Amino acid sequence: MSDAPHQDPDLLDKVTNLAKRRGFIFQSADIYGGFRSTYDYGPLGANMLRNVKAAWWQVMVQQRMDVVGIDAAILGPPAVWAASGHLATFTDPLVDCRKCKERWREDKINGVCPNCGSKEFTEARAFNLMFKTQAGPVEGEGATAYLRPETAQGMFTNFANVLATSRKKPPFGIAQVGKSFRNEITPGNFVFRTREFEQMEMEFFVPPAEAEQWYRYWIDLRYNWYVNLGIDQEFLRLHEHAKADLSHYSLGTTDVEFLYPWGWDELEGIANRGDYDLTQHSNASGVRLEYFDQTENERYTPYVIEPAAGATRAMMAFLLSAYHEDEVEGETRVVLRLDWRLAPYQVAVLPLSKKPELEGVSQKVLEALAPYFACDYDVTQSIGKRYRRQDEIGTPFCITVDFDTLEDGAVTVRDRDTTEQTRVKIEDLLNDLRQRTGQK
Ligand code: GAP
Repeated sequence: MSDAPHQDPDLLDKVTNLAKRRGFIFQSADIYGGFRSTYDYGPLGANMLRNVKAAWWQVMVQQRMDVVGIDAAILGPPAVWAASGHLATFTDPLVDCRKCKERWREDKINGVCPNCGSKEFTEARAFNLMFKTQAGPVEGEGATAYLRPETAQGMFTNFANVLATSRKKPPFGIAQVGKSFRNEITPGNFVFRTREFEQMEMEFFVPPAEAEQWYRYWIDLRYNWYVNLGIDQEFLRLHEHAKADLSHYSLGTTDVEFLYPWGWDELEGIANRGDYDLTQHSNASGVRLEYFDQTENERYTPYVIEPAAGATRAMMAFLLSAYHEDEVEGETRVVLRLDWRLAPYQVAVLPLSKKPELEGVSQKVLEALAPYFACDYDVTQSIGKRYRRQDEIGTPFCITVDFDTLEDGAVTVRDRDTTEQTRVKIEDLLNDLRQRTGQK
């Protein structure tokens, strides 16, 4: 057993099991045997995923005067995906194993079937990853529509709308958080690669001459976002793609990689997309997607720097890096050392017993804290077991209301990481927690 994440070969299993057992992430359609590669986020997971997205939005939109947010439609007409290049090129090479008939992504299997070991495959064919559907009430007669495979195109197709309504000028960004869908050939590794997932993307429009400088700026900022939210730098690195490996739209791409239990792999990609997208949509729609710089009396198509992150994938990385096993009072405990901003619950209020006097005070404590912190309330089992339960889901602070509370009006605040316990007056509690979380 090790205190360091990633050195435990069973880490993925442990985190997957914890996620299910404690209500972070369930297999979708579980009662029907599960629907492969889709997941539902339970009470704790829904809280945590919201926190991941909120932490992103805060840094990428709320605290910046040069970025605005949008929320675009998931369904889109073929014209968008023809112009973006997705209809023609958003494909993976699909092969069938001739022996066991399993389907694989050719570039992921090194010529050997992971299922049966055979080296005999069909010729690779290009498989488009977009989900196609019909919009309209009559089956077979509706208009073809696609579920978006990335949120990015919503920012390009709304470029002119946003420019006209927001009074922004380059350099400025349009950000969006939402679901994307890809018919991945080989989904897997829990929520790392799924067919339905959430993205957090921002398209930053800049004068072409400033593209390289902004590209470096966003690589740095995005790397540090993960560090700031608690991922140890030992488990993060930057990987710049070789020119030959770049996507059809990219002039340069750097991935923030995380050390998953199976090795280094992508967490987020930052790309210099040049003027590819605005030019494509301009040509296809006939609407000029340019910026007119009045001071320079110059019209130009901005270049785009795109930090593209996965919310669900980031949540998985935060869970993996937070998972620790340590020893407290001679016993092994599982603890999620999540940053308080990401933890599903930030505070747990625990009356020592079910006595009505203690529950009454505990309710008052809850009422005082719940507007400011996500709170849990638990009265069952011994206090030691309740601390362990909260440690396991990453709750940074437990507040215990005991019989002394009735006398001295104080409660015990227990810190998840140090297990240190401090007595705090109820009237000072909110300030105390604000201080502990760096809000004061
Ligand atoms: N707009 C550019 C774009 O979508 P991408 O590298 O394909 O770029 C960006 O996706 C991020 O979205 C990835 O770094 C990853 O975090 C997340 N992502 C992509 N496909 C995913 C999948 N099938 N399941 C979960 N997350 C995924």
